[in-house]
Amino acid sequence: MSLLLLATGLTLLGSPQTLHQGPQDSNFNETLVSGDWFSAALASNRPRLLQEGADAQLFIHSIQVTPRALQLHLHRKVNGTCVPVMTVANKTKRKFQYLMEYGGQKRIFLEEVDPKSYVIFCTHHKEHGKETVVVTLFSRTPKVTQDTLLIFKNYCKSHGIHKTNIINVTKADHCLHARQ
Ligand SMILES: *[C@@H]1O[C@H](CO)[C@@H](O)[C@H](O)[C@H]1NC(C)=O
Ligand SMILES: *[C@@H]1O[C@H](CO)[C@@H](O)[C@H](O)[C@H]1NC(C)=O
Ligand SMILES: *[C@@H]1O[C@H](CO)[C@@H](O)[C@H](O)[C@H]1NC(C)=O
Ligand SMILES: *[C@@H]1O[C@H](CO)[C@@H](O)[C@H](O)[C@H]1NC(C)=O
Repeated sequence: MSLLLLATGLTLLGSPQTLHQGPQDSNFNETLVSGDWFSAALASNRPRLLQEGADAQLFIHSIQVTPRALQLHLHRKVNGTCVPVMTVANKTKRKFQYLMEYGGQKRIFLEEVDPKSYVIFCTHHKEHGKETVVVTLFSRTPKVTQDTLLIFKNYCKSHGIHKTNIINVTKADHCLHARQ
């Protein structure tokens, strides 16, 4: 089991691109991820990153798709206060892959999506020479269905992230009061 996990982990280190296929529905258009979202769950191969106050502890408010980028409107919790943050994930030559500068350069993959319900993004960056992966589930509603959670859990599993490294954001105060 641990060998299998190790193998998956190594694949992950090897080439993020090949692991990420993006939405399989040929009718899907990334402009469909525009609009309001709620952070529902987070997972990482380095769970320490998900602790309160860590860089990854950002709560989505909305996404605006422009011709060259995804604009992410977020809240970040600083000392218990929700501070609005806007960050830009530039489109790249590869479909459903974006580059973002936020606490270092991050490569973002739009992975699985049902534009009316949920979207899964996977983010890769290097920290102290280690490949770090953060998977995020955004939902159109503050609560997510069990079906959506299952899709997320399966995604994490197939990308070598153990279920104990999944954080349920809906249980925390995820800056709902800071939304207008
Ligand atoms: C996606 O939809 C937008 C807005 O409707 C349109 O301008 C764009 O050409 C579409 N992109 C693709 C790849 O179909
Ligand atoms: C958080 O609060 C502590 C204690 O009040 C203060 O020292 C620190 O500078 C604050 N941090 C930020 C990022 O505002
Ligand atoms: C995104 O694009 C803008 C405008 O072209 C550029 O200034 C910025 O450096 C780019 N960011 C990344 C992470 O590539
Ligand atoms: C998160 O918590 C909510 C409320 O307690 C629950 O309905 C949901 O199933 C939980 N999700 C996960 C990923 O455990």
